[in-house]
Amino acid sequence: MDTDSRDVRAHGNETAAGSSTKQYTAHLERSRRVWDRWSDWYGMSERDFEPIRERAIDRLDLQAGDRVLDIGCGPGVNFEHIRSQIGSDGELVAVDYSPEMVANARNRIDRHGWENVVVHQADATTVDFDESFDAAVATLSLGVMPDAHRTVENIHRLLVPGGQLAVVDVRPTPSGPLRLLNPLIWRFFRWYANWNPANDVPGSLHHTFTECELTETAVGGTAYTMICRRAGSAVEAGNSDPETAEQ
Ligand SMILES: C[S@@+](CC[C@H](N)C(=O)[O-])C[C@H]1O[C@@H](n2cnc3c(N)ncnc32)[C@H](O)[C@@H]1O
Repeated sequence: MDTDSRDVRAHGNETAAGSSTKQYTAHLERSRRVWDRWSDWYGMSERDFEPIRERAIDRLDLQAGDRVLDIGCGPGVNFEHIRSQIGSDGELVAVDYSPEMVANARNRIDRHGWENVVVHQADATTVDFDESFDAAVATLSLGVMPDAHRTVENIHRLLVPGGQLAVVDVRPTPSGPLRLLNPLIWRFFRWYANWNPANDVPGSLHHTFTECELTETAVGGTAYTMICRRAGSAVEAGNSDPETAEQ
């Protein structure tokens, strides 16, 4: 188990441009403490959000052999569903900052004997890889990042041209009388999940990706799914077969 260090390299500056180094580091370290604490108590969240997570992944239209990135994977709640779609020829690479979450995710991999699923203990905002990804998922993770905007930019950079990102996240109640409870809800999320009120996940997605669609809302609009696509086509990504290249 990794306990105190990242096992992949970082891209660019290790802290966020928009927040001070001190704020960034403090948020990241609190995140590790909070998620280490919840790592053995994640069953209810895994069950409750499973349907919306799986519908989001289904929208990526993953193919056998695809290479997929799972950002803030927690204890590996998305692995089985993604693995069932990319098969044994695909590759699933997951990243989480909490060493205890990473340990649980690795236990899940060992239990299933998946040889093409790997988890790195790393900060998703700066993590870097040699090879690009056909698709990425970030379920319930962007909102807790120290700088979601920069994390979204990093994911965009790691995707092949035409690659898609599926995001499930939560936001303040957008309308109706429940809006009055927003300050209380956010205070609770901040304590429970180290939620970062400075993040505007939908805004960052729209700003970074050329195409972005809100495909589902749930729990009175508080939970939502967005599917975003990086500009370009499979031809640019090295697929010169016009039959299979995206238009
Ligand atoms: C609410 S859990 C979501 C887990 C899982 N994706 C799901 O859908 O249930 C948020 C996860 O994001 C991880 N996380 C928070 N900040 C991170 C960062 N900067 N880099 C990587 N992972 C991070 C936490 O450790 C935690 O496991």
